Amino acid sequence: MGLVFAMRACIICVLIACAFLQCTGTTILSSRNMLYDYPAVRRDETVVDDYHGTKIKDPYRWLEDPDSNETKEFVEAQNKITRPYLDACPVQKSINERLTELWNYPKYSCPFRKGSRYFFFKNTGLQNQNALYVQDGLDGEPRVFLDPNTLSEDGTVALSGTKFTEDGSTLAYGLSASGSDWIAIHFKDVATGEDYPEVLEKVKFASMSWTKDNKGLFYSMYPKQTGKTDGSETEVNHDQKLCYHRINTSQSEDVVVVEFPEEPLWRIVADVSDCGRYLLVYPVRDSRDNLLFFADLSKHPEINGKLPLMPVVEEFEADYEYVTNEDSVCIIRTNKNAPNYRLIMIDLQNPAKENWRTLVPEHPTDVLDWAAAVDQDKLVIHYIRDVKSVLQLHDLKTGEFIQTFPLDVGSVVGFTGKKNQTEIFYHFMSFLTPGVIYHVDFKQKPYTPKVFREVTVKGFDASQYEAKQIFYSSKDGTKVPMFIISKKDLPRDGSNPVLLYGYGGFNINVQPGFSVTRLVFMQHMNGIVAIPNIRGGGEYGERWHNAGRLLNKQNVFDDFQAAAEYMVSERYTRPALLTIQGGSNGGLLVAACINQRPDLYGAAVVQVGVLDMLRFQKFTIGHAWVSDYGSSDNKTQFEYLLKYSPLHNIQPPSENRPEYPATLILSADHDDRVVPLHSLKFVAELQHVAGRSPAQRAPLLARFDTKAGHGGGKPTTKIIDEHTDILCFMTQALGLKFVK
Ligand SMILES: *[C@@H]1O[C@H](CO)[C@@H](O)[C@H](O)[C@H]1NC(C)=O
Ligand SMILES: *[C@@H]1O[C@H](CO)[C@@H](O)[C@H](O)[C@H]1NC(C)=O
Ligand SMILES: *[C@@H]1O[C@H](CO)[C@@H](O)[C@H](O)[C@H]1NC(C)=O
Ligand SMILES: *[C@@H]1O[C@H](CO)[C@@H](O)[C@H](O)[C@H]1NC(C)=O
Repeated sequence: MGLVFAMRACIICVLIACAFLQCTGTTILSSRNMLYDYPAVRRDETVVDDYHGTKIKDPYRWLEDPDSNETKEFVEAQNKITRPYLDACPVQKSINERLTELWNYPKYSCPFRKGSRYFFFKNTGLQNQNALYVQDGLDGEPRVFLDPNTLSEDGTVALSGTKFTEDGSTLAYGLSASGSDWIAIHFKDVATGEDYPEVLEKVKFASMSWTKDNKGLFYSMYPKQTGKTDGSETEVNHDQKLCYHRINTSQSEDVVVVEFPEEPLWRIVADVSDCGRYLLVYPVRDSRDNLLFFADLSKHPEINGKLPLMPVVEEFEADYEYVTNEDSVCIIRTNKNAPNYRLIMIDLQNPAKENWRTLVPEHPTDVLDWAAAVDQDKLVIHYIRDVKSVLQLHDLKTGEFIQTFPLDVGSVVGFTGKKNQTEIFYHFMSFLTPGVIYHVDFKQKPYTPKVFREVTVKGFDASQYEAKQIFYSSKDGTKVPMFIISKKDLPRDGSNPVLLYGYGGFNINVQPGFSVTRLVFMQHMNGIVAIPNIRGGGEYGERWHNAGRLLNKQNVFDDFQAAAEYMVSERYTRPALLTIQGGSNGGLLVAACINQRPDLYGAAVVQVGVLDMLRFQKFTIGHAWVSDYGSSDNKTQFEYLLKYSPLHNIQPPSENRPEYPATLILSADHDDRVVPLHSLKFVAELQHVAGRSPAQRAPLLARFDTKAGHGGGKPTTKIIDEHTDILCFMTQALGLKFVK
C-alpha cells in the first residue's frame, strides 16, 4: 500500500473511529495501538445511494472493481496480516499432517451403466480431482477413462458436468478452471477415447441433455456476455439461451432453440424425455418456482432453429420437475398445493390443470426430495424425514408403495438407475459412516440391497463417537432439530469447544455427511460438532423455507443464536469456546449473527458470504437470490434488508456492547457465485469500525485465495490448506489444544 494512501486513509479512519467510539480523550496515536495492525484503507465518503429516500453511504465502493490495482493491493495487505497469524499456530504442522493422513482414503461414486460399460468416479485419496473410470461389466477391470488431474499442474481444472449419450458412444463433459461457474463443454468418443475438435464456450448454469438419436446436445449458454468470462468478472449474467449442438461441428453452427428475449434474467433448463420424443423446457427466474413448456421433437427431426413451445405452466408459483413419462403422460414432482411435494401426472396432449392427477400424494410430514424411474415400471423415491433419508420403492403405474430400502440414520448422497435398466446403486453416508454403496438387482426377488462397496478410514474408529439428534426451542418457540456429534462420554462441564455450522436458506437440506476436518476437531481437540437445521432450509418442505425467507429471514438468525444458547445452557461449551461457521448464504448467517450477538461466540468463520444485502443483485447471478432475500429495489424489502445486512450493521465495542468474536472471512478471486467484493467490503468496514477500537482484542482477519472460487471443483490440496487454516484460526483464537 502506497504511503500517500496510508496517510489519507489514516486521517479519515481516525476521525470516523472517534465519532463511533465517543472518544474519551484517547489520542489519535493510541487508537493505532491495537493488537492487529490492520491496513490503512481509503474510505470514499462521497459515494452515497438513495434508496427510496434513505441515504446510504458506500465508502468502499471502489473495492467492487476486482481489476483495479488498489483492490489488488487491499487483498495483498489483508493476506499479509492474516498469514503470519495463521502460520504462528504452534500445531499447524500437526493439524495439516493429521488432515492429510485421514483424508487419504479412496472415495467412490455409484457406478452407472452406459451401453455395455460401467463408469464411476474415484479419488484414490489425495488426488486433487476425482477421475472417471470405465470397466466392462461389473466384475471387469477398471481403467482410467478421463482424469482431470492431467489437465493442470495444480489441479485447478475440474470436471463439472458429464453426460453420456443414451447408447454410451459419446461423452459430453464440462471443464471449469479455478473454481469458476463458467464451463467449457468438450466431447469424447468413448470407444477411441479421442476428443472431438469442438469446444462449447460461454456456458454456465447449463443443463445438458442429448437427443436420443445420440447425435446432438441441448445446452444453455450466455452468448451476450462480453469482456472476461473466467470467473473473476462481476458482470450480471443475462440472456441465457438454449442451444442445440451437433457432434463434430463447430459451436458457431449451433442453433438457438429456445430464448426469452423479453426476460433477460431467466435461465433455461431442459430435459429430453426418456422416450426421446419431447423436450421439456423449464424457465427459472430466481431460486424457486419454474414454468413448464414442451416441444414435440418428433415434429422437428432436423433441429435447425427455434422450437415451437407448448405451454403447460405459465406462472411462477411452484416447482415442476420431470421424472419420466409413459407416452404423453409425464410424471412430475411438484410442490403445487403440496408444500412437502408430491408426484402428479400431466398428459401433454391435455395439459390443462384440471386434468392433472395425483400419483403419489404429499406426505403429511416427510418431504418428497426426489424420484427416479427404474426397471420399467417402478419408482425409487427419496424422502427426508426429520432431516434423515428414507428410500422407498413405489409402483410407477399406481404410485403405490412397494417396499423400503432400510438405511441407518444418515443421507443418500448418490443414486444411479434408469428406467430401462434392471438395477440401481445408492450411496449412503453419515457423520460416522464415510460411505457405503448398495446395489439392488431387480431381476432377483426379494429386492434385497447388497453392499457393493464400503470405504473405511484408517485411524477412525466409529465406535468411539456418537451422533445424536435433539430438538431445541427457538426464540418464537419453534422446535428446531440439531445434530450433535462428538466423542462418547465427554464431560458436560462447558469445557469443550463447539463448532456450530449452519446454512438456513434456499430450500436446501443440510443432511448428515462425513467430514475429515470435523473428525480431526473431535478426535484431537475434544471438539463437539453441532448442526442445527434452521429455518430457510428445505428440511420440512416449503413451509420451513418460507419461514426463513424474505420478511422472515430474521428467524434464520434467531434459530442459529438459539442453537448456540442451547449448547451453552446444556453445558456442552461456553461462548469463549464456541465457533460458528457457514458458507455462502451461511456466510451471511454467521456475519449477521456476530453483528447481532457478539457475546455468544468466541470465533466466527465466514466463508464466501453474501454480505452486502443492498447490492448483491447487481453482480453475476445475484439476481437469482431475490426469491430468498428480496431486493433493495423494493422499499419494504429494503427496510428489512437494512436491518440485518452484515455490511450495514457493524458496531464498535462499547460499554454496552462486547467486542466481536475472533473473525475469519474467506473468499477467492474466481468466486463468480458470490463475488469476493462482499468479503472485501465487509472486512474493510469491520476493521474500520470495530478493529480500531482498543476494546476489540480478538482479531478480525480475511484470507483471500487465488485460482479458487465458490467451492465447487476445489482441488484437494487447496481444501486441506484451507481447512488447516480454519482449524489453526480456531486454535489461535480460542486457545485450543491439539492432543495427538
Ligand atoms: C497497475 O499496476 C501495474 C503494475 O504495477 C502497472 O503496470 C499499471 O500501470 C497499474 N495500473 C494502473 C491503472 O495504475
Ligand atoms: C468429423 O468431421 C470431419 C470433417 O468434418 C470428418 O473428417 C470426420 O470423419 C468426422 N468424425 C466423425 C467421428 O464423425
Ligand atoms: C435402453 O434404451 C436405450 C435407448 O433407447 C437402448 O439403446 C438400450 O438398449 C435400452 N436398454 C435396455 C436394457 O432396454
Ligand atoms: C415488495 O415487497 C413486499 C414484501 O416482500 C411484497 O409484499 C411486495 O409485493 C413487493 N412489491 C413489489 C412491487 O414487488
